[in-house]
Amino acid sequence: MYHIDIMTLFPETVGDVLSESILGRAQERDILRIDTHQIRDHTVNKQKQVDDYPYGGGRGAVMQADPLYRCWDHICQRYDKRPHTIFLSPCGKTFTQADAKRLAQEYDHLVLVCGHYEGIDQRFIDLCVDEEISLGDFVLTGGEIAAMALADAVCRLVPGVLSDPECFENESHWDGLLEHPQYSRPAVWHGMEVPQVLFSGDHAKIERWRRKQSLLRTRQRRPDLYEKLDLSSGTDQKLLAELERELSRPSLPHSVVCRLAKEEDLGAMETILQQAKDLLTQCQIDQWNDDYPSRIDFLSDMSQGECYVLTLDDIVAGFFTLTTQTEACYASITDGKWSSDLPYATLHRCAVARQWRGSGLADCIIRECERLASSQGIIWLRVDTHRKNKVMQKLIRRHGFQYRGNVLVDAPEGHDPRRVAYEKRLKTIGPDADKDL
Ligand SMILES: C[S@@+](CC[C@H](N)C(=O)[O-])C[C@H]1O[C@@H](n2cnc3c(N)ncnc32)[C@H](O)[C@@H]1O
Repeated sequence: MYHIDIMTLFPETVGDVLSESILGRAQERDILRIDTHQIRDHTVNKQKQVDDYPYGGGRGAVMQADPLYRCWDHICQRYDKRPHTIFLSPCGKTFTQADAKRLAQEYDHLVLVCGHYEGIDQRFIDLCVDEEISLGDFVLTGGEIAAMALADAVCRLVPGVLSDPECFENESHWDGLLEHPQYSRPAVWHGMEVPQVLFSGDHAKIERWRRKQSLLRTRQRRPDLYEKLDLSSGTDQKLLAELERELSRPSLPHSVVCRLAKEEDLGAMETILQQAKDLLTQCQIDQWNDDYPSRIDFLSDMSQGECYVLTLDDIVAGFFTLTTQTEACYASITDGKWSSDLPYATLHRCAVARQWRGSGLADCIIRECERLASSQGIIWLRVDTHRKNKVMQKLIRRHGFQYRGNVLVDAPEGHDPRRVAYEKRLKTIGPDADKDL
């Protein structure tokens, strides 16, 4: 059993807090024992006075050595060996998870001394205290909060207190990292979605994502911890390279506006279109060609009210077409099937300006498509792309689209007409919301 004795002027308060919840249950199961001791009970004066004025003058009072010593000695009498004694003090070494681990592993009995007023007589510290620990670089009224924090952090590492060592081994500070973000139900809250990877059921992928988030958080929030990490493993090196690429991407200004495209936008759209075609050529993907898409396609989409632009500070930075018309080429699909015959919306002809690639603007396009389709009561969103267009496939999979099979599009002579087809079921408040799949 792990013992902690706490010397304090407020034993009830400390005892109440430490007998709740997990630590309370561990005490009931005799894994832990936490006792609190009223220092005043060990005075030899009628008033039970524990403090007096400081020698040398100055404000306030100092806790006297004698009542502290008597209280400490009373505790020591109950054990065979001298307990490891800690004075909680702003002058101590700052407490860390490594200290919690050390105290849980190296000792089975701690005495925690809580000071008050201006502090405690140095002679008690010199005679009885083994180490001084501070909760941080600030000053508390008394040592009780610090003692409770230390006791809590140590006790949860005592074997048997938590159900599984994994509970603390993956937590912040265990191996020098901060923990990844955590999510629970519902999947969408205030319009904010849980990262898709967490629904994948692929544990290796989830672990990888979590490690990457931990590295990112630690690097951004605690460079002091980050500097000390050993990141030499192949996995970490790959994750760091990915982070490097992601962090060097341009960041979007706060407001991205999505609106129907107008004829005045055509010039900007054609510039972006050319940039996208150049990129496809560079990547040897024969998805778009000299004649497609073109101004004629944009004008046709505009006339149907299906062509949209995204603007940043009123400048067109991306475009897409969202149509609710039936796609003739989707009627025949191989290597799979569509999930439903219900009306669907399809995303076509989307691109973002070169300077905003990797900024998350493409994610905005997907989100806007989902919003626009949902607002029309449409449940299914479809999209097809060239099998070599991995960037598009990664984007849509990240947003929860599922592969459904292969379709053939009209492509000019010599161009690959095969496309991989994806779809996503949307959450909608429209009339089709309750229809079965
Ligand atoms: C008001 S403080 C005394 C501060 C002291 N005069 C000084 O300047 O270092 C009273 C008691 O609160 C506790 N305490 C205050 N700040 C603390 C901290 N950061 N960590 C641990 N204990 C603290 C100590 O037990 C201390 O004796």
